[in-house]
Amino acid sequence: MKDFDPAISKKVYKIDKKVDEFRKRIKDSEDLKLKDEVFDTSTLMALYKLSSKGYLDALGGTVSTGKEANIFHALRVQDDENQELAIKIYRINNSNFKAMQEYLIGDVRFKNIRHTKKDIVLAWTRKEFRNLSRAIESGLNVPKPIITQRNILIMEFKGTDNIPYPQLREFNLTKEQATHICSEVKDFMLRLFRDAELVHGDLSEYNILLEPESLTPVFIDMGQSVTLDHLNARDFLLRDITNVAHFFAKYGVEMDVESTLEKIVKSRVDHQ
Ligand SMILES: Nc1ncnc2c1ncn2[C@@H]1O[C@H](COP(=O)(O)OP(=O)(O)OP(=O)(O)O)[C@@H](O)[C@H]1O
Ligand SMILES: [Mg+2]
Repeated sequence: MKDFDPAISKKVYKIDKKVDEFRKRIKDSEDLKLKDEVFDTSTLMALYKLSSKGYLDALGGTVSTGKEANIFHALRVQDDENQELAIKIYRINNSNFKAMQEYLIGDVRFKNIRHTKKDIVLAWTRKEFRNLSRAIESGLNVPKPIITQRNILIMEFKGTDNIPYPQLREFNLTKEQATHICSEVKDFMLRLFRDAELVHGDLSEYNILLEPESLTPVFIDMGQSVTLDHLNARDFLLRDITNVAHFFAKYGVEMDVESTLEKIVKSRVDHQ
């Protein structure tokens, strides 16, 4: 058998060493199995690339372990100041991959991707980046996306001192506060539809964070958001509205699903 080209062996060795160094820098050691699942060598390489390009300086602990992704806290030092970041790492081997495929089919932006697990997850990561960018361009309160690399999305951290803002479901609101937040959520759905031309697709009290002092809602988790030409866009919008109405009903805040849907859909016609 032919020996490896020594130049290539050397290169591979070098990369291995760098990956090892990065592995050591990952301080979070709570769950070794999970760590292995998330930080495979390609993901470590991608993280290494991002750090060598200056996008992150220190990776911190786990913020959340979701169905398809893990969120980590990270820091970037800029002008002697620590900027907090959220790093979302989609697992290539995640259980939701079939569902992901359904959201991608019908999105013209991703019609040419191959349907392997890896390609779907990588497209999904870019999709979340683009969806967040569109929402930001429309002036909506979502985490500002910074960059993607492979299955990694780096974005603004919505929280303070390593702690994310709590989810809407965790608050005990007065009816007055709930009424106000409900109208802000309706406004978000309308502007996302009218201006960003997107439907969130998984809007609920889990994917809305609240800035605790001002109770300003922050909308997260936009990997599954679809453009309006998606065949199921209207159904997804109806489902989002229904989830929101169901949640606020607990506070006695009434929200009519049909008329909200009509108002949102009509806002675009009026706008054109
Ligand atoms: N930009 C961010 N800033 C701060 N915290 C964040 C950010 N993005 C996500 N989080 C935290 O991570 C949690 C999960 O995020 P997200 O919903 O995007 O991931 P997910 O994998 O879809 O999770 P799930 O399967 O639980 O829905 C959020 O509830 C929040 O606590
Ligand atoms: Mg979520």
